[in-house]
Parts: sequence; C-alpha cells; structure tokens
Amino acid sequence: MAQPSELISSLADKYGRQRESLLPILQGVIKQERYLSEETMIAIAHEMNLPAADIYGTATFYSFLEYKKMGEYVIRICKTITCSMKGKNQIILTIEDMLKIGVGETTPDRKFTLLQTNCLGWCHKAPAMLINDEVYTELNPEKVREILSTYLKK
Ligand code: FES
Repeated sequence: MAQPSELISSLADKYGRQRESLLPILQGVIKQERYLSEETMIAIAHEMNLPAADIYGTATFYSFLEYKKMGEYVIRICKTITCSMKGKNQIILTIEDMLKIGVGETTPDRKFTLLQTNCLGWCHKAPAMLINDEVYTELNPEKVREILSTYLKK
C-alpha cells in the first residue's frame, strides 16, 4: 500500500493540482486511509499549493473529517436545495427504516453510517447520495432499497 505522501502525489498526478481536483483527491485518500489526518491535509495542501484551511474547509463541507469513527459504508445524502425539493427526506426515511438508525448514527455492527452532506454536484440528477465514493442519483425509495440491499449482502 502506498505511503500517504506517495498516494497524494499519485492522486494529484491523476486528477490534477487545481482546486477542482480536491474532492476526488480527498475521496481517494479516504478510500485507502479510511480517514483524513491533519498531517494528510497538510500534505495535500503542499502538493496542491493550496492553503491548508481550504483542505480543511472542503473536508468539513463534505463531513469527511468524522470518518474515523464511522461505519464501513458511509452514506451521505445531499441536503442542498435541489435534492431537498426532489425528495431527499423520503430517501432518508427509507434508509432510516431499513437500517434502523437516524442521521448522524452508525449501525451497532459498524457497517453503515448515515449522514447528510452538501451539494454533490449532481443536482441535474437529484436526489443524489454517496456511499463511500460511489455516487447514486435520481433516487426514489424503491431504488434506494435496491441499492442498500446489495450493500447489506456484502
Ligand atoms: Fe443535491 Fe446538488 S443539490 S447534488
């Protein structure tokens, strides 16, 4: 497994060093490291020549910082306006019902954590959610049940 610094530079090579690449880079780091440490954020800031506060801001915006205490699968439901208008509450209710947890909670087996997050950039296909770094769009309760069932079997 690559060291965090090697991982960051290979992700930066892959996605680029401009600000727009920050999200895929953060997702790539989390995929391997499972959480974002302060050192990692500083290393990303160096690699991308951005202020560390920007990395922190983005990580906070997408609730990546709490990753450490989370379940194996972190479900992030977009709570921003388009997704809200297109039924994100129904999506949350469906997940809460299936997993028997509320927003901000983790299942007792630590398999799932349910969170809300800010706009994922998929407003044209709202409502949207992320499960780890996988994006799911145009959700409805039925589709969410199907998606979650596949994760429950994993
Ligand atoms: Fe939900 Fe943009 S408002 S993806």
